[in-house]
Amino acid sequence: MALPPGPRAPSIVTSVRFLHRPLDRLREWQAQYGDAFTIRFTGFGPGVYVSDPRAIRELFTGDQSDLLAGKANSFLIPVLGPNSVLVLDGPRHLRQRKLLLPPFQGGHVAEFRRIIREAAEREVDSWRAGDELVLRSRMRSLTFDVICRAVFGVTEPARVERLREALCAVIDASTAVLLVKGMQRDLGPWSPGGRLLRRKRVADALLYEEIARRRNEPDLDERTDVLSLLLRARDEDGAPLTDEELRDELTTMLAAGHETTATALAFTFDLLLRRPDAYARVKEAVAAGDDAYLDAVAKESLRLRPVIDAAERTLTKPRTVAGWDLPAGTYVFPAIALIHHRPDLYPEPDTFRPERFLDGAESYAWLPFGGGIRRCIGAALAQAELVEVLRTVVARAELAPRRATEDPVVMRGITLAPKHGVPVTVRRVAPRVTAASERAPVMST
Ligand code: HEM
Repeated sequence: MALPPGPRAPSIVTSVRFLHRPLDRLREWQAQYGDAFTIRFTGFGPGVYVSDPRAIRELFTGDQSDLLAGKANSFLIPVLGPNSVLVLDGPRHLRQRKLLLPPFQGGHVAEFRRIIREAAEREVDSWRAGDELVLRSRMRSLTFDVICRAVFGVTEPARVERLREALCAVIDASTAVLLVKGMQRDLGPWSPGGRLLRRKRVADALLYEEIARRRNEPDLDERTDVLSLLLRARDEDGAPLTDEELRDELTTMLAAGHETTATALAFTFDLLLRRPDAYARVKEAVAAGDDAYLDAVAKESLRLRPVIDAAERTLTKPRTVAGWDLPAGTYVFPAIALIHHRPDLYPEPDTFRPERFLDGAESYAWLPFGGGIRRCIGAALAQAELVEVLRTVVARAELAPRRATEDPVVMRGITLAPKHGVPVTVRRVAPRVTAASERAPVMST
């Protein structure tokens, strides 16, 4: 069985070129080799990128039992733990997923929006005219706050800070250790593997403490944060999630949900601040309370700047994908970044045009959150964050990009990210407008 053609340079050359400018490279390879091509990255087996919408739809619908995704993520176990939905496959994956999905659906999203708006207001409160900000790091702090409050249900500032310090320390220590296998070994507190292990123990202890505290909270049955809902959830056999499972899923939701969303926000502002027409329309939409345009901006940013370039599936059986008979064991990458850039699906694909999403149509051509039985669990939360943060920032602040041109897109770990984090200057910032219902009552004398 032959694999589709692809670049023939040594894998180290291909990897370096990809890490430097991932979007440009993927587009170059698609132009050269078509809708299916094979890439060999250093340290990985050959992987087939697929950008044909029909082929992707086949991978994301129907029986997906011969497609694994957790196995390829097993390198994340030192950070996420062995029970994380991200590293599981088969029945155990489905069980965890069924338990995790309901807290992110339906009426819960309205409560998320309230928490996000509060976090965004607090963030803008801390800005002053003349400040120079790196948006990705400001947004990272904001999206951490959102996960802490909406997912963990922790609101007391001192506890939020404790968790921020411990969990960000784990994530910051992890990138190189995870990507280079030999580095995972514990060779003492100063070795990369040893440092990660020690930081992870500290973070785990805090998470267990929060889980135990929540279990004993008298209002557990009324609470709507994700952890409380998960503590009350039962699987088909009536069994709850164990403390180890809860710890791993909390870490997973933080790891999968805070930097990704912060990056998407930074990209959105980088695109919008350079397009006065679209920006003016966002301002009008905010003033008019018209959410359709804000939703469309979020979708268009995720189309043009997807944070994850491709989903990943490993074939457990031979399978025909995009007309190629691929052997068992092949990695297949449904190429999110490429399907988003097809001129037959998105005319003038390089143009930032939110209007294309105004009819609300979503299809197999818009896949920033992947698809099928692995589709992102936090998609609704992430989209709500994009809209609510945009609304709050545009209503109160005027930002100006500090770079003359858009931030180049590079790889950071396993995500696409703006190379410089989108540096901006705060030109103007208005005080918070408090709704009449939230104002303190006027005391009469
Ligand atoms: C803009 C922000 C985000 C982007 C672009 C994003 C993207 C993705 C993608 C592409 C996948 C893989 C889907 C697949 O393989 O088909 C994924 C999986 C996942 N995401 Fe997100 N995500 C975002 C935010 C979040 C948030 C806020 C959370 C949770 C709080 C979250 C939790 C997860 C989880 C748990 C999975 C694993 C699902 C599974 O394996 O069944 N993500 N995400």
